[in-house]
Amino acid sequence: MMLATDNLRYTKIPLNNGSGAIPALGFGTLIPDPVATRVATKAALEAGFRLLDTSERYRTEKEVGEAMQEVFKEGKVKREDVVVVTKLWNTNHRRERVKPAFEASLKKLQLDFVDLYLIHTPFAFQPGDEQDPRDANGNVIYDKGVTLLDTWTTLEGLVDEGKCKAIGLSDVSLEQTKEIFDAARIKPAVVHVESHPYLPEWDLLNYCKKNGIVLQAFAALGHSMEPNLLEDPVITAIAGRVNKTPAQVLLAWAIQRGTALLTTSKTPSRIKENFDVSTIPEDAVQEISDGIKSRVRFNAVTETGVPGFIPRGK
Ligand SMILES: NC(=O)c1ccc[n+]([C@@H]2O[C@H](COP(=O)([O-])OP(=O)(O)OC[C@H]3O[C@@H](n4cnc5c(N)ncnc54)[C@H](OP(=O)(O)O)[C@@H]3O)[C@@H](O)[C@H]2O)c1
Repeated sequence: MMLATDNLRYTKIPLNNGSGAIPALGFGTLIPDPVATRVATKAALEAGFRLLDTSERYRTEKEVGEAMQEVFKEGKVKREDVVVVTKLWNTNHRRERVKPAFEASLKKLQLDFVDLYLIHTPFAFQPGDEQDPRDANGNVIYDKGVTLLDTWTTLEGLVDEGKCKAIGLSDVSLEQTKEIFDAARIKPAVVHVESHPYLPEWDLLNYCKKNGIVLQAFAALGHSMEPNLLEDPVITAIAGRVNKTPAQVLLAWAIQRGTALLTTSKTPSRIKENFDVSTIPEDAVQEISDGIKSRVRFNAVTETGVPGFIPRGK
């Protein structure tokens, strides 16, 4: 069966605190090479992506800013059409460090506000300029002097000031999400976690849906790691049946089950392919949800706060 092109790729999910809606289909910029980051970000905007995800820890904010400026200057896309997401790093959780870190991100992005600001992980690291602080034995140095809720309430202040439209959490468990949701004056708009058919996070998704939080799934294609989701027999069989690529099937599944997602590529043809998603039949969505039993977490960041996909020391 050949699927007709439909509007799935333009799906938007409303945010719970009155700050608009975000595109379900988002482009991540965790790309180690700066030139490749700039080229890929520009290609993503040209392909149609309208959500860009970056972070101070990825060290890609400057390139994302430059790519956006180029595209804005060409008049193809306007600032207000793009949802820009960046994240506070673990070494900046203390109250007095949040605003300077946020302002530094804005400056690199060449923006005067971001649409969504996330706490990158729930782990506070020793404050300072070293993003990966380690003791003599190579163990991460944590900061016991600040709680996740302290950091959250500081982010609420940024929303009050109009510096960011919405705030959210990343790499959190269901328990941590509940704790912040219950205590927050401004509720988390987004919870950004690894999720794909090998890590569907149904409990967290159900909780988010019930409470008006968008679950934004990163590593939607399994980060190209083994076991390779793109080669899973359930996915490849559906892809053959509906005449789409395995990547397009995975992205459609993510949108159709009600999550936002992030996918990344430095390859222009794949960037276009990943935006060219259309609805897959409901029985295919079910088959992926029920028929894939493997469970794999590719990124161990939720255990330690150390980002799994970033080369150590970068
Ligand atoms: N908060 C966190 O802790 C956290 C952690 C990880 C990621 N993230 C965010 O989530 C984003 C997405 O994560 P991810 O990088 O794991 O995404 P992903 O889309 O699951 O994996 C990206 C990998 O898949 C390959 N790929 C992309 N499209 C493809 C296609 N159509 N066919 C075959 N292979 C394809 C890419 O290769 P090429 O580039 O070579 O084309 C790249 O190696 C990141 O950029 C980042 O913004 C957040």
